Amino acid sequence: MNLRAKISAVAHYVPDKILSNFDLEKMVDTSDEWIRSRTGISERRILEDGKATSDMGAEAVKRLCEQRGISPKEIDLIIVGTVTPDMFFPSTGNLIQEKVGAKNAWSYDVAAACSGFLYALASGAQYITSGMHKKVVVVGGDKMSSIVNYQDRNTCVLFGDAAAAVLLEPDEEYGIMDFILHSDGSGAEYLRMKAGGSLYPASLETVTQDWHFLYQDGKQVFKFAVTKMAEVSVKILEKNGFHGDDLALFVPHQANLRIIDAAVKRLGIDYEKVMININKYGNTTAATIPLALSEAYQQGKLEKGDLVLFATFGGGFTWGSSLLRWGMDKP
Ligand code: COA
Repeated sequence: MNLRAKISAVAHYVPDKILSNFDLEKMVDTSDEWIRSRTGISERRILEDGKATSDMGAEAVKRLCEQRGISPKEIDLIIVGTVTPDMFFPSTGNLIQEKVGAKNAWSYDVAAACSGFLYALASGAQYITSGMHKKVVVVGGDKMSSIVNYQDRNTCVLFGDAAAAVLLEPDEEYGIMDFILHSDGSGAEYLRMKAGGSLYPASLETVTQDWHFLYQDGKQVFKFAVTKMAEVSVKILEKNGFHGDDLALFVPHQANLRIIDAAVKRLGIDYEKVMININKYGNTTAATIPLALSEAYQQGKLEKGDLVLFATFGGGFTWGSSLLRWGMDKP
């Protein structure tokens, strides 16, 4: 018997507070027109002070359990993709476990920047297909506002806060069919948060140099992302004997609309088959794919049996894709 890891529930949480392009015009030298034409973003959500990634993740997991009609006590494992953990340790997975009362679960975090969700999904799927676990929760969540410098127009317009989660359960018919995952550590110089780790622990110097903020060389990241996300999307279809036409939905990482467009062109699929919500949320890092999936599900864009493609890229560099047969009925 060949077991697959099926997504049996999907839910998300976004903070209420909206930071629009017009708000940003008052903070840095930018314009709504520049941001929309270069990125596709109109607004993003910002989590309040005193709340952290685990609060958003816990809310998404509670909604997930309600949707599936299970108690959090039934969860075997929680894996969280994030680069903005509440703290170095305990892991955000541990904190979510406590907040939702998943008393019988173990939990850990995966750090792969924007690819965090796909990496965590690949990990979680292994526990299901091996028969080790029956219910694995995979969360993608980031409070990007905690590491973004709102005086740096190159980055502050791009990111937002959110968390979303999926439940994985074994199934013989529906579920994840394949993954292709990559990393290339030579990308570290182009996208990173330099300080706060063991190399540059917090000091007066790290603070005055702004090393606790996300740094990005946008042009270099763009060049890499535009090629790699398209390449890995096409490759997984070819590997499994499919064409762009066979896809019912493409859920790409939402970092820049122009990067998504490049992948869509390479895949040769219709725009109606692409889930896009970057305009409302910006780049929510590890949350983009499950957030887009959750909205697609709520909007009735997914039918049982649909072929769905995820694709991502991010800091590291990290990138990858996943192909699945959707197994949930419409809500
Ligand atoms: N408002 C107005 N001007 C801005 C700006 C802003 N918010 N941010 C940058 N600029 C300026 C730059 O300073 C530059 O000015 P200069 O030519 O005088 O130096 C000019 O706009 C053009 O910058 P450029 O980098 O060529 O713009 P771009 O078209 O490449 O778009 C990004 C910039 C960041 C949107 C784009 O490079 C990008 O999306 N990169 C990848 C980001 C990404 O996906 N990151 C997440 C990885 S998961």
